[in-house]
This record gives sequence, structure tokens and C-alpha cells, in this order.
Amino acid sequence: MRVAHITDIHVERRPSLGELWNKRLAGAVNLYVLGRSAHFSVASQVALVRDVLALDPDVVLCTGDLTATATEAEFGAALELLAPLRQRPFLCIPGNHDAYTGESRGRYEQFLGEIDTVRVSRQGDWDIVLVRDAHPDWLSRGEVGPAGREALDRALGAGTAPALVALHYPLRNRRGERYGPATRALADAEQVEAVLSRHERVRAVVHGHEHHGYRVPIPRAGQSIVEIDPGASGYAHLPRKGRTAHFCVYTLGAREVEGVERYAFDGERFAPEPGGAFASGG
Ligand SMILES: [Fe+2]
Ligand SMILES: [Fe+2]
Repeated sequence: MRVAHITDIHVERRPSLGELWNKRLAGAVNLYVLGRSAHFSVASQVALVRDVLALDPDVVLCTGDLTATATEAEFGAALELLAPLRQRPFLCIPGNHDAYTGESRGRYEQFLGEIDTVRVSRQGDWDIVLVRDAHPDWLSRGEVGPAGREALDRALGAGTAPALVALHYPLRNRRGERYGPATRALADAEQVEAVLSRHERVRAVVHGHEHHGYRVPIPRAGQSIVEIDPGASGYAHLPRKGRTAHFCVYTLGAREVEGVERYAFDGERFAPEPGGAFASGG
């Protein structure tokens, strides 16, 4: 079975004046005044959908940040963009940008359907375990929370199939240390990792949020868990800044992740990363 993993598409539409309040004001200043909006591009977003489809994956997994500031216009545009991918099994969790303000609470659900804190989706021989870790927050912190961690523990204890766990936030950084800074990290990463480590069937943790991708092992007794972040799939192609869009394709065998491919946007199309997945270092 092949799973295409996309993340951090960040579809942007300039918010109207009436929408500029709460956190969105700071976000809009960041996006449009400080120029962050140039970090993402429609060209890579459109090519992403076309090129993922061309690979004909069995499942498409999206780990959040579909939008920039969670407005209705952005969700509408993101869904229009992703519509061809949603013709097949499409699993998605929100990112912090999709739960941007208290006012936008519920908008993700309105557009993409209800999501429990933990949801297990059986795909072939595997359980894909979706964990909601993004909530409205004045900073950019995430949390699974005590009830969510308990639900995760129960869900993992209830089956024996190999499991791939999807979060929005990283557990560790590219050096294998705890991900930070705390203002934009998962507050209970250590406890979440402890839950995952208890369940031998957890093979991989995949996520987004950090826009430069990486792969790092999470050590535990016995076999380590592989943590993978493809990097932002909607990033503009800016080779002089060492920045472009990426996505991953995982080949899931009977019990193990048998292959990890990473595709990079070259300005026209997504092509396998030269030298193999993560050979470019970011
Ligand atoms: Fe993001
Ligand atoms: Fe994020």
C-alpha cells in the first residue's frame, strides 16, 4: 500500500478588513506586510495536486495547515484545490493555522467534517492513527491533552495491526532533540512520545508544522520509531534560499515501512529528491 503524505499547504486569501482581528491581525501583518505570503505559491500547490494524483497512491494523508489564517475564503479555496485528491481515501487533521482564532473554531469541521481527538482508520493491513493536536492558541502551541493521550493509549492497545501515527506537531527536531521553541511546539510531546513508545505496533510518526522536512529515529526499547516530516508542500520554489515544496510517499509492507520516497518541486514539477529521501538535508 502506498500513502502520499502532504502537509502545510497554506492556501492564502487576503483577509477582509472585518476579518482582521484577534490573532489574525498579527498573522496578516506577518503574511502581507512582512512578506511571509511570498513563502508559499499557487504554482507549487497546483503542481502538488497534479503530481500526487499522477502517482496514484492508495491513500492521501494531510497533516494540517491547509490554510494560512482559517478564513472561509481560504478553506473554500483549499478544498477546491484538493478536490481531486479527495476522490480517494483522504485522511486529514487540522494544523494550528486551521484553528487560528477562537472565532474560526469549528470552521475546519464545517469544511472537512467532524474530527475526534483520536481516530483510527484501517487502510489495508495498517492502522492510520490521526491525532488532533492543534487548537486555537494565542501563540502557536499544540497539545494532545490528558484525555487525548488516554484515548490514544486505548486505541493503540485495542489492535495489533502495524500503526502509522499522524500529528501536526513534531515530537523531536531534526537533531533528535525535543522540538522547540515552546511557543510553537507540542506542549506534551514527551508524554505523547511515551504513549507511542509503549506500543510496539507503532512503526512511524509523521507530521508537518516545521516547514523544512527531516527524518529522525525515536529510540525506544527494541525497534525505534521513525519520525518523518516531508516539509511544507505549498512552499514556493526559491532555490537561492534553499527552499522548495515537498511531499512523501510511504510504501507500507505487511508489518514495516518498506520505502520512503520524497518528492521536491523543481519549479515545474515534483520529482524524486536527488540522492534519495532527505539527501538534501532539509
Ligand atoms: Fe505550517
Ligand atoms: Fe503549523
